[in-house]
Amino acid sequence: MKKLAGKVTIVTGSSRGIGKEIAMKLAHEGAKVVVNYSSSPKKAEEVVNQIQQQGGEAMAIQADMSQVDQIQQLVTTAVEQYGQLDILVSNAGIEHFGKLEEITLQDFERVFSVNVAGQLFAAQAAARYLPSGGRIVLTSSDSARKSVFYHTLYAASKAAVSAMVLNLAPELGERGITINAIAPGGTATDMAQENAKRYTHPALQNVPPEAVLKSQISLQRLAQPKEIAAAVTFLVSDDASYINGSTLAVDGGWL
Ligand SMILES: NC(=O)c1ccc[n+]([C@@H]2O[C@H](COP(=O)([O-])OP(=O)(O)OC[C@H]3O[C@@H](n4cnc5c(N)ncnc54)[C@H](OP(=O)(O)O)[C@@H]3O)[C@@H](O)[C@H]2O)c1
Repeated sequence: MKKLAGKVTIVTGSSRGIGKEIAMKLAHEGAKVVVNYSSSPKKAEEVVNQIQQQGGEAMAIQADMSQVDQIQQLVTTAVEQYGQLDILVSNAGIEHFGKLEEITLQDFERVFSVNVAGQLFAAQAAARYLPSGGRIVLTSSDSARKSVFYHTLYAASKAAVSAMVLNLAPELGERGITINAIAPGGTATDMAQENAKRYTHPALQNVPPEAVLKSQISLQRLAQPKEIAAAVTFLVSDDASYINGSTLAVDGGWL
């Protein structure tokens, strides 16, 4: 018997990167998966096709996670299609780097609308349907507890996620639903690729990237998206039935 047989799950931002691997892994464990995306319909369809080729069930739904009406539509469409909802994995997120004097209100609203409001309202919309035993996993980041030059907005948005799961845990726990966060460290995706240099201290810009990695991560390498997906799969499984309100670091051990 597969771990998630009979479960229906939504994975936000699962056209690429970490979300894609989460969608693939949950489907592999027997769940029906809604693959959400904002701007990559072809990539989302490819994920659905890969899941179907491996004998799983999946469908793609477009919804911008910064828009509350689209979040609600995503959840109601998933429930109409599959008849239930058991698991929400809120993974969609955007990165930001900017000096204090450069940060605008528009930057703040853009980052917080996806990384904070999007995750809060996704949890709210999903919670309307989740049964006892339901699972919510939101996405924080190791950035919430490690200082990096010019990373204030993003780090603050991810710190908010840990506070949200901590405080939603008793409210949802009354109904037998758990809510936790995953906090990945540097993971080999488009996001990490685009911003790798910006994680490096300005004084170390001429040091080879591999040497910087070795100085920062105990395991001396970036995570693969599959390694984050494995931890999420644990959190949404019955094996994690007594974990609630936690933020699980999956970061190879920061130095
Ligand atoms: N990579 C890392 O090193 C790292 C470390 C810590 C935490 N994280 C967090 O992990 C999550 C995934 O990161 P990643 O590296 O896989 O990112 P990524 O490679 O940039 O992929 C982002 C995914 O999110 C989707 N997305 C972005 N904005 C969206 C929106 N408004 N509505 C719906 N979907 C949206 C994208 O969809 P489209 O393809 O349609 O644009 C894509 O599927 C994020 O929350 C990120 O903050 C990543």
